[in-house]
Amino acid sequence: MSSVDLSVDLGRGLLLPNPVMTASGTFGYGEEASQYFDISKLGAVVVKGISESPRQGNPPPRVVETPSGMLNSIGLQNVGVEAFIAEKMPFLRDAGARVIVNVLGSTVEEYARVCKRLDAVEGISALEINISCPNVKEGGVQFGMKKALAAGLVKVLRELTGRHLMVKLSPNCGDIAGMALAVQDEGADSVSLINTITGMEIDVATRRPVLGGMMGGLSGPAIRPVALRMVHEVYNAVRIPVVGIGGIMEGRHALQFLIAGAQAVQVGTATFTDPLAPLRILETLEDYLREERIALPDLVGSLNTGSL
Ligand SMILES: Cc1cc2nc3c(=O)[nH]c(=O)nc-3n(C[C@H](O)[C@H](O)[C@H](O)COP(=O)(O)O)c2cc1C
Repeated sequence: MSSVDLSVDLGRGLLLPNPVMTASGTFGYGEEASQYFDISKLGAVVVKGISESPRQGNPPPRVVETPSGMLNSIGLQNVGVEAFIAEKMPFLRDAGARVIVNVLGSTVEEYARVCKRLDAVEGISALEINISCPNVKEGGVQFGMKKALAAGLVKVLRELTGRHLMVKLSPNCGDIAGMALAVQDEGADSVSLINTITGMEIDVATRRPVLGGMMGGLSGPAIRPVALRMVHEVYNAVRIPVVGIGGIMEGRHALQFLIAGAQAVQVGTATFTDPLAPLRILETLEDYLREERIALPDLVGSLNTGSL
């Protein structure tokens, strides 16, 4: 059987052997999953969001199943940048995985300090900037909700790192194509979307919110049509690569995102029900390209909008 070229070049040194990554927060730091498969087979591992200091996260319950998806309010729990570098990076490096570090912060200065610290660390392929974080100096409004805040953040980070900057967009911002353009104009190398959609669940017996953090982020199949629409809108608006995320459970879904314009995809919630989902998805993708005799770059954005 002829082999298919699955490699993707997302620019500024981010060259991946294939377009299937794991999504931040759903794959930890890669250690648990490596019991099930060789994580170097993934396009890349996107690790749990890293802040300057360790964070405890929100009170439990932190996850609840919802129709065709789940709500989580983990609350940005993580080990902090120093422990990540000392305790998590050696494993990922030894495993031969491409590592994308998801970065979060409460101020522009915190993001900058974390990125600067990571800049000196070997074995990191890119930084994914999670702008769905409350900005303490702006009264808690998320960076990802206002174009000026997001653009200002990317401008600062662009000046301090030569690393590939992937900016992860929030679906809660209203104008996601405008947001993508704003971060592109300040030097983002790619955009990934979507992060979770804000939601809540209520227990009628107690009339209390089900999640300890009250509100949570909706992920899984329920958000896929929204994510697909946003990926397509952003693809039509920007010239930088787009990475598609949201409810990808099987290969067919990844194909939908590529056809909508994504050059690569991330798989999140699916790994909770099947840790091998990213590899299954990769296999389907490879079979499709072989059977359809189409090269990966030709599939990207190949949505047929002609009349039926
Ligand atoms: C439990 C959980 C934790 C997450 N943590 C992060 C995070 O730390 N940083 C981030 O940018 N996205 C985080 N996300 C969002 C996912 O990376 C992804 O964007 C979202 O879940 C949609 O993809 P999916 O439907 O395939 O899960 C988290 C999602 C879940 C379910």
